[in-house]
This record gives sequence, C-alpha cells and structure tokens, in this order.
Amino acid sequence: MLTLEHVDAGYGRVQVLRGLSFGARAGEVTCVMGRNGAGKTTMLRAIMGQVAVTSGRILLDGAALEGLAPHRIPQLGIGYVPQGRRLFGPLTVAENLEIGLMTRGRGSRTRERVLELFPRLRERLDQAASTLSGGEQQMLAIGRALCLEPKLLLLDEPTEGLQPSMIALIRDTVRRLRGMGVAVVLVEQRIEAVLDLADRVAFVETGRVAETLPAADLSPAAQQFARYVGV
Ligand SMILES: Nc1ncnc2c1ncn2[C@@H]1O[C@H](COP(=O)(O)OP(=O)(O)O)[C@@H](O)[C@H]1O
Ligand SMILES: [Mg+2]
Repeated sequence: MLTLEHVDAGYGRVQVLRGLSFGARAGEVTCVMGRNGAGKTTMLRAIMGQVAVTSGRILLDGAALEGLAPHRIPQLGIGYVPQGRRLFGPLTVAENLEIGLMTRGRGSRTRERVLELFPRLRERLDQAASTLSGGEQQMLAIGRALCLEPKLLLLDEPTEGLQPSMIALIRDTVRRLRGMGVAVVLVEQRIEAVLDLADRVAFVETGRVAETLPAADLSPAAQQFARYVGV
C-alpha cells in the first residue's frame, strides 16, 4: 500500500529525515513512536507533499507521490489529521465536511456515514468549528479526513490532550477503519494505546525508522520503549 524508501526530507537547509524507510498495509494499524523531534510529524508531512523530499521514494500502490503538488495527494485517497488539529475555524462543521467531500467528489452517502460515526457532529452542523470543544474538533478533523473515503489515513497524535471518553471513541474509530480495510498510520506516544491498537510498531529515531516490529512481539516492558521513546 504505502512504501517510503530511503527518504531524505527537511525544511530548507535543515535535513530532518535521513534515509527513512517505512511501510503501511491495508487493514492494518501501523503505529509510529519516537521521541519529540525524532521526525514523526515530518514523515507524515513528507507523505503529504508538505516538506521537500530531496532523495528517496514515496509510493502508494506503486505510484510515486514524491514531487506531486500537495493538493493532488488527498485526491489519491490519503486522509491526514495533523497534530494539533488544523481546521478552518470560522467555517461551520458542515462546511468543513464539505471540503473533505469535494476533494474526492464524494456526496451525501459518504457524509451520512461519517455523521453516523460521529453523531455529535450532526448536532453541531451549523456551529463554527472554532467554537467546538477540543474533542469535538478532533472528531471533525477525523470526520473531514473520512469524507475522502481514504484508503490510507494518517493520524498524528490524535488523542493528545483529550478526555478518556473521546480517546475511547477515537480508538474505536481506528479499529473500525482497520476492519474496513483502510491502512492506518497512527503516531501515538502512549504505550498501552499502541499495544492495544497496533498491528506493527515503527520506532523513529533521528529521522529514520530504527526498528519495526509486530505489536504481538512487544510487551509494556519491551526495551524498545525505553530506548526509542524514553519511558
Ligand atoms: N517548520 C519547521 N522548520 C524547521 N524545522 C522544523 C520545522 N518543523 C519541525 N522542524 C524540526 O524537525 C525536527 C523533527 O520535528 P518533528 O517532525 O515535528 O518531530 P516529532 O513529530 O517526531 O516530534 C525537529 O528538530 C524540529 O525542530
Ligand atoms: Mg510530532
């Protein structure tokens, strides 16, 4: 599904990703872990065409993503929920969802499915996104990404700072998407969440994936958590 091969990328002259290789498969949750500043967000931004890839390849089902204009990438069926939720604040919930739907020409059937997943959004369709609670904003960010009917969904620390009930809802959603065959890439720092959800875990260290393991091979006491996450 998604393959990154020896990717170098960064911001201007600052190189962040250094020969990073990574993969994600349909119907699996691949968790990405690593210390602050390791390059997790930059990896997702490289996939989305938002940082300059100076070397290496990024392939979706064998087709190259690197070098495409950033607006082309969501059109291929890649949903992205950035760290810290970047919504169009003055727009309403309905308008935010509409942006997602338009990106890939989806209509009311898709919208209905997303609203069934997140009934709270339906109650707030005419409300400005900026007036939603943190959890509701995250729901909207995910809902908007799902309006693309993505085959690949990138989630960057989606439960950071949210209440337990909202965290549980987001985890349920991730499981459902996996069941529907979506390839999910989840940046997540909580070990229990990772062990609960992940099929595979990629550990990022200084701009590269140092190790990828099946989640079944990891326990809470695994040395990888201490080594790459520092807990
Ligand atoms: N817009 C930017 N311009 C320059 N450097 C950046 C920018 N965003 C992030 N960086 C740097 O890239 C490195 C990796 O950051 P990031 O990908 O956000 O890490 P992570 O998500 O793993 O915490 C850090 O050293 C960070 O300071
Ligand atoms: Mg980050």
